[in-house]
Amino acid sequence: MCGIFGCLCEGAPKVLLEGLKRLEYRGYDSVGIALINGDELFVEKNKGKIDEFILGLDEARLKGEIGVGHTRWATHGAPSKENAHPHLDCSKRIAVVHNGVLENFLQIKEELLKKGHIFSSRTDSEVIPHLVEEYLNEGLTLKEALVKSMERVKGSAAIAMISTVEPERIYCYRRESPLIVGISERGVFCASDIPAIMPYTRRVMVVPDDRLVVLERGSIQIEDLRGVMYKTEFTEVTWDLELAEKGGYPHFMIKEIFEQPRAIRDTLKIPTIFLDKAARLLTGRIYLTGSGTSYHACLSTSYTASDLVGIEMRPMISSEFADALLSLESSTVIAVSQSGETADTLNAVKHAKSKGAKILGITNTLGSSITTLSDAYICTQSGPEIGVAATKTFLTQLVALDLLLLRLGLISGRLSESAHRSITHELEALPGMVEQILRRADKIRDLALKYSKKENAFFLGRGANVATALEGALKLKEISYIHAEGYPAGESKHGPISLIEPNFLCVFIAPRDRTRERIIGNIMEMKARGAEVFSVITEGDDELKEISDEYFEVPRANEILYPIICTVPLQLLAYYAATFRGFDPDRPRNLAKSVTVL
Ligand code: AGP
Repeated sequence: MCGIFGCLCEGAPKVLLEGLKRLEYRGYDSVGIALINGDELFVEKNKGKIDEFILGLDEARLKGEIGVGHTRWATHGAPSKENAHPHLDCSKRIAVVHNGVLENFLQIKEELLKKGHIFSSRTDSEVIPHLVEEYLNEGLTLKEALVKSMERVKGSAAIAMISTVEPERIYCYRRESPLIVGISERGVFCASDIPAIMPYTRRVMVVPDDRLVVLERGSIQIEDLRGVMYKTEFTEVTWDLELAEKGGYPHFMIKEIFEQPRAIRDTLKIPTIFLDKAARLLTGRIYLTGSGTSYHACLSTSYTASDLVGIEMRPMISSEFADALLSLESSTVIAVSQSGETADTLNAVKHAKSKGAKILGITNTLGSSITTLSDAYICTQSGPEIGVAATKTFLTQLVALDLLLLRLGLISGRLSESAHRSITHELEALPGMVEQILRRADKIRDLALKYSKKENAFFLGRGANVATALEGALKLKEISYIHAEGYPAGESKHGPISLIEPNFLCVFIAPRDRTRERIIGNIMEMKARGAEVFSVITEGDDELKEISDEYFEVPRANEILYPIICTVPLQLLAYYAATFRGFDPDRPRNLAKSVTVL
């Protein structure tokens, strides 16, 4: 995943760099900008993070009122100055930034090489400016050349292009990868997401798929590749930019963990009308699919669905979905994705659609690809999540899915009015419970100091809390680089237990639910082999306090809420362990916020 930004406004160099800073979470291995000043195209790019990049810039050369920029997460070609965007044509008149993956670039590159084009990078993206140049040389206008180029390339692409041939315009195009545009008295803007342009305008529009955009001073035109104009409808962003900035916290991740009570409160307000539309879609066999943390939400929900409404829902990792040869005719697939852009999940959705399944999307990103591919969708109300590690979006996915199950239960008659009322009431208490946990974050910080010296950890749970264990382990490993595995506690004795030696860390998800007695058995097994046991328990559970080396208490709750509240101390543990080990939790190595490659 990469971030693109473009602006046509006064003070463009500063706006460009500020915009890229807000997009850095989308990729941070290289960065670059292009500006037009008079008839000169100024380009600067490099490997590394944006702050270092800015330090190396010669301010005197940053001039002009039109520019594009890019933050990169490498897919084709290692992070390097040459592979950083913008990419240029041979005559250095055209600068292009691209987010996406071009499938047929090798073939196009070969053709262009034969025609004498000289490439300076190993990226797929560089074919775009050369292709545009080729068509320009054939006598097409810049716009016609771009249209023809976009018809030629296959794959996903959000691009922004400037050229000294038409120095007053930014041309953009969107296919699959996200692109939004915005307008205000200050100027016109395009970017990969809304927060990037929010300091300059709140009037934004999500560009529909397969559309060309022309940004000029005071106007934005959207059309399809045949030149048919598309009505521009701007909406006013109502949420606060605060949500997308650190607001005094050292990292986005900890800010986002502390935002969870608010995010849950807002998600609880999803109008019933949307939930009912979504619930009515759920007929036939029901599958849940997602990747990483979103898959954990699917797994957890599969337990809750059987428990709460007696409906079987099969959880599937998205990258395995197509290979599982599922019976998809007359089925429904609930596709869960924070970004709505994860390639594996989109692939599963496309496969399911092609086999006749209906799609219900659960996403945090309005206008994302998943919303366009779904028959109905529910938007979780987390607000933008910038930290690469998913935190608030996981909790709100679980809440949204619980709300959906409640409506499904009511509509199908599987849940009585009074049961519906009483569980809804319990869900409403969730924000308060999470606040209570967050007030005791210091206890987790102290434990994290100790555990940050470990090299391995097991996270063990039963029932829906297997998903909690998997999520706890994923959080710890992805940002602190401690090797952590989540496992069903009952399964651990069938092999993994042989790894246990004195002081091996075992984190147990052990709330007061139907699994408690058997979890106690598993704790004893691990302790007998010298493991160091840290348990997440229900407040006042003296027996578990007694047998655990360390414990953290969560409030007493309905069983279906434990996967939500037990996750919070595990998120904190991962965050603090990463910081004690000296790593930046917002930018784990090799990862990007959304993974747009298969
Ligand atoms: C979570 O901490 C991860 N970084 C990752 O597993 C993520 O959940 C996964 O890539 C799916 O993303 P999505 O929800 O945007 O589809």
